[in-house]
Amino acid sequence: MRAVDLIRKKREGHALAREEVQFFVEAVVDGTLPDYQIAAWLMAVMWRGMDPQETAWLTDAMARSGERLDWSMLPGPTVDKHSTGGVGDKTSLALAPIVAACGAFVPMMSGRGLGHTGGTLDKLEAIPGLRTMLPVEAFRAIVAQVGCAIVGQTDRMVPADRRLYALRDVTATVESLGLITASIMSKKIAEGVSALVLDVKSGRGAFMKTDQAAGELAAALVQAGRAAGVRTQAVVSRMETPIGRAVGNALEVAEAIVLLRGEGPHDLRTLVEALAVRMTRLAGLAASDEEALRLVTRAVASGEALERLRRMIQAQGGDPRVVDDPGRLPSASHRHALRAVKTGFVTAIDAERCGLAALHLGAGRTRMDDAIDAGVGLEILSPVGTAVSTGDAVILLHHRDGRGLDEALALVQQAVVVAEAASPPHPLILSIVS
Ligand code: URA
Repeated sequence: MRAVDLIRKKREGHALAREEVQFFVEAVVDGTLPDYQIAAWLMAVMWRGMDPQETAWLTDAMARSGERLDWSMLPGPTVDKHSTGGVGDKTSLALAPIVAACGAFVPMMSGRGLGHTGGTLDKLEAIPGLRTMLPVEAFRAIVAQVGCAIVGQTDRMVPADRRLYALRDVTATVESLGLITASIMSKKIAEGVSALVLDVKSGRGAFMKTDQAAGELAAALVQAGRAAGVRTQAVVSRMETPIGRAVGNALEVAEAIVLLRGEGPHDLRTLVEALAVRMTRLAGLAASDEEALRLVTRAVASGEALERLRRMIQAQGGDPRVVDDPGRLPSASHRHALRAVKTGFVTAIDAERCGLAALHLGAGRTRMDDAIDAGVGLEILSPVGTAVSTGDAVILLHHRDGRGLDEALALVQQAVVVAEAASPPHPLILSIVS
């Protein structure tokens, strides 16, 4: 088999056979394919697309390109959740302990923030001492003992995606439905869980800007998961406004803890409940959504979910006292309030601009090796729907000695819209794809 023939075949719009996809992925990983041939193939896929069968084969070949985890030693079902990336999205921090408290095992492998979206690993590492880059043996032991752990993927998992993603990034081929699907699902399938819930974000603050694009991605991801034998469902949720009130690593951990105490903002509770219900159902712990919601509500009300978080933090080397005293989390030295310039109702708080503002304050990174400041970020004091008078604080910027404050302030000024009349509330959950 020759790579040039596979490039030509795809360029002419034909579907590749399973052996051809397999050959290509093996050559990507063993280094025999030069970057220019991989890049040419990626561009051919970008233009011609891949059918669901090719996408499933690519996903499978990529998932098998490195180490895969096996959870068959656990005495219960395994389930994970993946989000396509949002602003203020701390749902994983609450979901893993809630679903573990309901009786499933949640071996969660998460990512870091990049661009305007945050990453679960960066958020967790705001907890003093907590480690997310753990050896597989330690990860397995914590999941077995506590019921959940949240770690980063090791370098030995899915090496095909690392090389392909790096090339996609610099050849304008990221936005291919088939390539996105294989990239996301190969990593999840290599984790070895038996069930998976995807939170596909839609809107200005998301990777997918329209509901139609998000719906298509959700359908493709679910199909690829099923083809690999993983029970998969997707929730398509709106990402126009940050989720909850906090954007920034330590601020988001504190908000997740508040949620596990049974409080917290309504939108965050709605999203966590919807995802937890799907995870609990897919794990086979409840026969109906109503029963699943009862389990989830009890896990929080009984304090069991908070206890799982405490044990998970301790097992991962972090200071468990943050659960009772979030004041132990890192915080920024200074605050600055963005105030309403007129009287009316807050009708929009743009998620992308808020994410970028937090990035300027130091909460995220523009290069993979940037250091992040766990204490800085945004606190939304007047969420969408709030009636405000001129001079009322809308967003509190937590900054360190003014670093990035001017840029962040300009962004949040553009992010907030105050209008004379309140706008009707939009549903947060757009659809469920199963
Ligand atoms: N996230 C991934 O992991 N891969 C993609 O291709 C896009 C988003």
